[in-house]
Amino acid sequence: MPGRSDEQRGRRRLRLGMVGGGAGALVGPLHRMAARLDDRYELVAGVFSSDPLRSQLTARELRIAPERCYADFAQMAYRESLRADRIDVVTVVTPNHLHHAVASIFVGTGTHVICEKPMTKTVAEAQELVTAVERAGVAFAVAHHYAGYRMVREARALVADGALGRVRAVYVEYLQDWLHDAAESGSAKQAQWRTDPERSGIGGCVADIGSHAFHLAEFVTGLEIVGLASEVVSFVAGRRVDDHVSALLRFSNGARGVLAASQVACGSSNGLAIRVSGEKGSLRWLQEYPNDLEFTVCGAAPRRLTRGGPGALGAPGRTPAGHPEGFIEALAQLYTDFAEQIHARQASLPVVPAVAWVPTVRDGARAMQFIHAALESARRSGAWVGIDPAAGPEAGRGA
Ligand SMILES: NC(=O)c1ccc[n+]([C@@H]2O[C@H](COP(=O)([O-])OP(=O)(O)OC[C@H]3O[C@@H](n4cnc5c(N)ncnc54)[C@H](O)[C@@H]3O)[C@@H](O)[C@H]2O)c1
Repeated sequence: MPGRSDEQRGRRRLRLGMVGGGAGALVGPLHRMAARLDDRYELVAGVFSSDPLRSQLTARELRIAPERCYADFAQMAYRESLRADRIDVVTVVTPNHLHHAVASIFVGTGTHVICEKPMTKTVAEAQELVTAVERAGVAFAVAHHYAGYRMVREARALVADGALGRVRAVYVEYLQDWLHDAAESGSAKQAQWRTDPERSGIGGCVADIGSHAFHLAEFVTGLEIVGLASEVVSFVAGRRVDDHVSALLRFSNGARGVLAASQVACGSSNGLAIRVSGEKGSLRWLQEYPNDLEFTVCGAAPRRLTRGGPGALGAPGRTPAGHPEGFIEALAQLYTDFAEQIHARQASLPVVPAVAWVPTVRDGARAMQFIHAALESARRSGAWVGIDPAAGPEAGRGA
């Protein structure tokens, strides 16, 4: 958290627009909460649904001025770009198939973008977006929000400080159970579009949550995953995308890894977990206990580091140690760091390392490469497939 308030620094709140996140949406409302948490943004414009009436109802509930609730995202991008008080940032929280079109049009008008994952439907679209973002000089964040958890950052700092020695092995898993049956044949729209390749992209589980596991493994270790061998399965009869993936990983330093993601793992809600094992020690973090990090020096008893507690390296967070922080705070951290990045750009100052850990358009492109590599490997009966370091994560990893 910065020491002085925005008001003390003479900085206004950033004007935020949103595409998606209408009534009944899952993640859009969480983004709105996260954007408000540190008071860096005000939501002033949007298209919240493909249905104009539903969009207007949401806009009214959110106290958006009627003239800034637009008929569609193309109209929004154009009309906002003509206003003196135009939006600074847009959040894209639509189903996956729209991310590329929405993000591209706002990048084209010089608007900074926060985009949900998976960033696009294809690797080619992702590469196009990388080029467009770098050419336009806008800031672009991808919502792998686990990178905002204090103890995930603590884990990354421990690895970077050499506390584990050379990393040897990484075990990362993301297990859910909400698609354990044919939920898509009922009324749950989130299940319907996620299992429709036209709207989800070619990956099901591998894209929806495997991409988070992939990003987390690279984020915590600071290493690139350079290849994988995978098996991708659809357990539910008639399902058109995968719902379960297992992959062996190879890292840029020679470390090995295992990634497991499933949406049919009964008993698991959002079981994201990572273990990293090195020559000198290991660590373990579980999303369902996000304020704790287990750290073990080889041969000694495991230590439980807590957010803001004794021995923790990083800043304590928003609430005192022992009062838990969670998903909203992690996402809020990305919003706040992103706001700092934008203010730095506006003042022509460099982005300081403390706020550079927001996943970037290049991280989004790497996750797309992972999805395609996992599916390609599975098609080739588990053959090893390389992940191109050219779309490397270095720009998004901060110091
Ligand atoms: N980071 C995370 O942990 C996380 C969690 C959930 C979802 N997601 C991602 O967020 C995105 C949204 O997922 P969700 O579960 O909230 O979906 P959802 O179906 O609940 O919500 C999607 C919203 O987009 C709106 N929409 C659809 N077409 C539109 C258009 N043309 N213009 C404007 N709005 C439109 C819908 O009306 C709806 O309000 C997906 O890409 C998903 O992968 C990420």
